[in-house]
Amino acid sequence: MIEVRDITKRYGELTAVQGVTFTVDKGEVLAFLGPNGAGKTTTMRILTCFMPATEGVARVAGFDCFEQPLEVKRRIGYLPETPPLYHELTVVEYLTFVGRLKGLHAGALRSALDRAVERLSLGDVRHRLIANLSRGYRQRVGLAQALLHDPPVLILDEPTVGLDPKQIIEIRELIKSLAGSHTVILSTHILPEATAVCQRVVIIDGGRIVAVDSPERLSARLRRSEKLSVTVKSPPPDLVKRFRALPGMLNVFDQTDPHVFLLECELGRDLREEIARFVVEQGWGLLELKTVSMTLEDVFLHLTQHEEGLGGTAEASGTVQVTTTLEGQPRP
Ligand SMILES: Nc1ncnc2c1ncn2[C@@H]1O[C@H](COP(=O)(O)OP(=O)(O)OP(=O)(O)O)[C@@H](O)[C@H]1O
Ligand SMILES: [Mg+2]
Repeated sequence: MIEVRDITKRYGELTAVQGVTFTVDKGEVLAFLGPNGAGKTTTMRILTCFMPATEGVARVAGFDCFEQPLEVKRRIGYLPETPPLYHELTVVEYLTFVGRLKGLHAGALRSALDRAVERLSLGDVRHRLIANLSRGYRQRVGLAQALLHDPPVLILDEPTVGLDPKQIIEIRELIKSLAGSHTVILSTHILPEATAVCQRVVIIDGGRIVAVDSPERLSARLRRSEKLSVTVKSPPPDLVKRFRALPGMLNVFDQTDPHVFLLECELGRDLREEIARFVVEQGWGLLELKTVSMTLEDVFLHLTQHEEGLGGTAEASGTVQVTTTLEGQPRP
């Protein structure tokens, strides 16, 4: 449904996006994850025909974003970083205006408007001036205009920014309900959001894609060891040393809480039973034992920090390997 091939965007001297390639299938929800200035908005602007790429090809539903922008725009609902709202209009006036721009009239416009107002819970504010709405409600009006003509493709630049926790859950549910029938790309800084609503995540950093995969597989692929957290009631002073002596143990770390220890074991080796037995036999008092999985946050930090902090080390080459295997296209 969406095809981006070798897109590069230069602003004068600055290369904002370089050689970005990815595809999004029909019905898929894809998250764009990256630090500030990574190139998320730039890529979205190219896809929505807001501006052309310097090099490369972007297609939506088979139409070229540069050569057939009208066909592309017809099929896209776009929520820009700053929603383009007219403050002197009421919510209904604004959505009516946007609906007309999108070619909706009479009955079709009324039913589209009612559906968008209901979906975004805007009923109570439909006759209020946009100037007087809170930030969260303005964001919802922005989303309503993106969804208004029920486009098959939605490009949402940080859709939940400025919303309260309850609204965030509602919008995530809304996005999830669009999956299958709609193709969605959203950008986010909120890492759990990517896990909550997306089938695939594109991690972008410094204008380049550093990984593409499902949130679960991203964390699994980067895992090099099994991690366990163990809480002991009365740990002896040499507990770290004694844990380290266990077969299959790679490392043991103290935590700020003197009762909690983080154990790193060999990959594929489950030491939980042995550790439980060991602690109980020694009479130290086992309070808790659990596996620690790598969160998407760990993955994100790992992939986006390596260049400054770990350039040229084994960590960095691990990242390159991930990019290669995940995309199936070796990168230079
Ligand atoms: N119109 C422009 N002219 C010059 N440079 C620009 C322009 N728009 C963006 N940039 C630069 O391009 C780079 C990528 O910006 P972009 O807005 O795509 O990042 P982003 O990933 O959306 O970041 P954020 O998370 O902060 O929204 C940044 O270095 C930015 O300063
Ligand atoms: Mg942005």
